[in-house]
Amino acid sequence: MCRICGGTVQEFMDFGRQPLSDAFLTPEEVADEFFYQLRVGVCESCAMVQQLEEVPRERMFNDSYPYVSSGSSRMRDHFSRTAAGFLESELTGPDPFIVEIGSNDGTMLSTIKAAGVRHLGVEPCGGVADVARAAGIRVRSDFFEESVGADIAAKDGPANVIFSANTICHIPYLDSIFRGVDALLAPDGVFVFEDPYLGDIVEKTSFDQIYDEHFYLFSARSVAAMARQFGFELVDVLRLPVHGGEVRYTIARAGARTPTDAVAELIAAEDKHGLAELSTLQKFAAEVDKICHDLVDRLEELRDSGVRVAGYGATAKSATMTNYAGIGPDLVPCVFDTTPAKTGRLMPGSHIPVLPAAQFAAYGAERVVLFAWNHAEEIIANEREFAARGGRWLVYVPDVRLL
Ligand code: SAM
Ligand code: TMP
Ligand code: ZN
Repeated sequence: MCRICGGTVQEFMDFGRQPLSDAFLTPEEVADEFFYQLRVGVCESCAMVQQLEEVPRERMFNDSYPYVSSGSSRMRDHFSRTAAGFLESELTGPDPFIVEIGSNDGTMLSTIKAAGVRHLGVEPCGGVADVARAAGIRVRSDFFEESVGADIAAKDGPANVIFSANTICHIPYLDSIFRGVDALLAPDGVFVFEDPYLGDIVEKTSFDQIYDEHFYLFSARSVAAMARQFGFELVDVLRLPVHGGEVRYTIARAGARTPTDAVAELIAAEDKHGLAELSTLQKFAAEVDKICHDLVDRLEELRDSGVRVAGYGATAKSATMTNYAGIGPDLVPCVFDTTPAKTGRLMPGSHIPVLPAAQFAAYGAERVVLFAWNHAEEIIANEREFAARGGRWLVYVPDVRLL
């Protein structure tokens, strides 16, 4: 049953038993590793693409959550521009207030804080929340939900902006989130969130965007229906080039703002491409299988001919890629990454060791699977020596090819 509207959900993809995508393991933790069934479907009524099984939130988001927003310079730029945009538009009245849901290490709020504007991050993971606090950012350690929204409103007053990046699609209980937003948002305030876009995922066959944390894959149509159901309205959409293609959705109280033409245009484009139709999504699923076979074939050839292979970017996405395709240390002996909380550990499910990116050059790889394909430009520039000495990057989105 659809988590948003109660309609019937048609399954189109079963990725089988999957680990938690951000649960990087010590060797001792391997024996107790947690797995769940990653199945995805589309609601016949409201078009929301969603997972069929829910992982308890504390298993994914806890004090050892390793992901930091500041790990990419492009994302740091993106969030400083985002914050600057709010400071110029929505946060210009007397004593404005912005709340960020999933504020992580405070990358976005650092610009707001520097401007001296009232803010609050809501972040359940202690490690990253403490990084933000150390930079002087105000953070509440909590999962945002109805009661938290009401409590913030009681203590701090209404928010002019509630912002959230790469977090709303992680939350199955969106009814409670919208009730919390209802309690907290000023009458003319906006709830703005950005998440991976179903249109990009289908177009690029970027199936590795589907993992435990990405419970929903949003489209303009499904978000518009969801907003309406909870007494709000989708008033603007903006396609973003980050994380492989996202959409920023702006939501206001029903009738409070006039929707831009972009909303109707994006919904019309989605309908024209049959984005939420089961047949489109079944075709997508068949393309996923082809990519997985092609990549495994390519990696077996490389192994059999003695080529030195590695991976780059121990992304959450790579959990789906490696575990669905059956890629382990025999095909990709190690993966390099800059994130301190990931290095020295094993990738979830596949148990491929994660090594510090500082050791990449010395390792002398000849072919490298770019699991962080969404950061290709930045990583290729950082590691330009690799290509200069004849190394080649291997990507699998939108298909398997050498760069
Ligand atoms: N917003 C940052 C960004 O875009 O880089 C972080 C994104 S990270 C993928 C998702 C974040 O959402 C994590 O820091 C996680 O702890 C947080 N999160 C998950 N569920 C949440 C909830 N119910 N309320 C607030 N934060 C939540
Ligand atoms: P993401 O695709 O979920 O943002 O994860 C990107 C991963 O890649 C994260 O673990 C950090 C890592 N990374 C590097 O190792 N080097 C880099 O230059 C960049 C941009 C990311
Ligand atoms: Zn539905």
